[in-house]
Amino acid sequence: MDFVVRPASRPLRGVVRVPSDKSIGHRAVMFAALAEGTSTIRRFSFGEDNVSTLRCFEAMGVAHEVVDAPVFPKGGRIRVHGLGLFGLKMPVDGRPLDCGNSGTTMRLLSGLLAAQAFGSTLVGDASLSKRPMRRVLEPLRARGAHCRGAPHPKKDDETAPIRIAPLIEGEFLGPSEIELAVASAQVKSALLLSGLYAHGVTVVKEPTLSRDHTERMLELAGVPLRRVGSLVELDPAGWDGCIAPFDLTVPGDPSAAAFLVVAANLVEGSVVRIVDVGVNPTRTGALDVLRAMSAGAQIVPKGEEGAEPIATLDAMGAVDANGVGMVAANVGGELVPRAVDDPILCVAAACAKGTTVIRDAAELRVKESDRLAVMAEVLRAFGVEARELPDGLEIVGKPQGKLRAATVDAHDDHRIAMSAAVLALRADGESRVRGVDNVATSFPGFARVLTDLGAEILETP
Ligand code: S3P
Repeated sequence: MDFVVRPASRPLRGVVRVPSDKSIGHRAVMFAALAEGTSTIRRFSFGEDNVSTLRCFEAMGVAHEVVDAPVFPKGGRIRVHGLGLFGLKMPVDGRPLDCGNSGTTMRLLSGLLAAQAFGSTLVGDASLSKRPMRRVLEPLRARGAHCRGAPHPKKDDETAPIRIAPLIEGEFLGPSEIELAVASAQVKSALLLSGLYAHGVTVVKEPTLSRDHTERMLELAGVPLRRVGSLVELDPAGWDGCIAPFDLTVPGDPSAAAFLVVAANLVEGSVVRIVDVGVNPTRTGALDVLRAMSAGAQIVPKGEEGAEPIATLDAMGAVDANGVGMVAANVGGELVPRAVDDPILCVAAACAKGTTVIRDAAELRVKESDRLAVMAEVLRAFGVEARELPDGLEIVGKPQGKLRAATVDAHDDHRIAMSAAVLALRADGESRVRGVDNVATSFPGFARVLTDLGAEILETP
């Protein structure tokens, strides 16, 4: 499927929702599966990645019901019948668990399954089967897990399929103390989940704090956790091993909202309100960068859902009739993990005055695509000067007038597809983004939401 996008001919206006947070959705299903009884998850996004997690647990005996069928982008309500910490069952006939396109499903499940008394295999689609997995498997092996990935076809690494052999009777995972070279919520969470079952303490230290949804849920569940800055320590000694069932409303995904914020910023006169968005500070790096660019959104706090702060975002046009108004920014350091899912910032940079420099972001090369290379390719196709750095990008903004309409390939990457569609609003004619099917992994209903706001974007087979 392709997006065909016409240049914005009028301001974007309206009050909208985005799908609920993908990261929190995965974790909500996992904790509900491990809880002793039935949990309710409201506004579950039903994005394909979250559904992959749900299906994996279904295959391990965790039943769920759809109480309210999904309406996109609002999501739906599910009830998950948890089996307790030791209740997961071996998938029937040892069938592989299919993580689809979802790196979070594969990495977090590796941690959880490494501690089980049954063996399992994790598989994924072509894109996931190229992503590096040693970062989780090695520290899990170091604490006694029997897990191994397939040799990576291109690098000295491991990838899917991941095979996990059971812990035999009398075998336990041991303590784990690790200092990560690169902040990673997925690695941290895999270790914490395995740590629920370990004989000994789990300590993870990150260079700067990555998203902390797992820690917040563990704390809510009463698991003994100690946190100081970017260090987290889990010591299950003395814990009763019981996770109580819960009723959780998943907040809107801030990384999905960022596409709409930038779209509003780039179209003169726009006024867009996005309601019920998660604003956990480990996720708001993009809003901070946009503010430094004289753009972004006003954040109106609206309390908490679960242990997560939520807010209304009010975004407006940040440019005048000639497209001028936004300024370049420097992005690096602790901002990067806080904006790691926001390549849309490159689109803002493409329309800002001056050169935006992004550093410390080599991780973007191992996401659903090599986002530094692919983003540079997309920007150049629209006539924007972009230079790849080993760990980032230099983008020379073109604030004046229109960009050149283009046909670009999304490289099967949902966030590249949506970034390119937003950039196309500033082009001088109709643009086409090829291969956008994966948008459904994180933002089902994206084209419809943009259309509701007044953009002209068609999905074509
Ligand atoms: C995620 C963590 C991040 C992020 C991914 C979701 C999570 O990955 O890019 O989309 O839910 O834990 P890393 O842990 O690799 O930084």
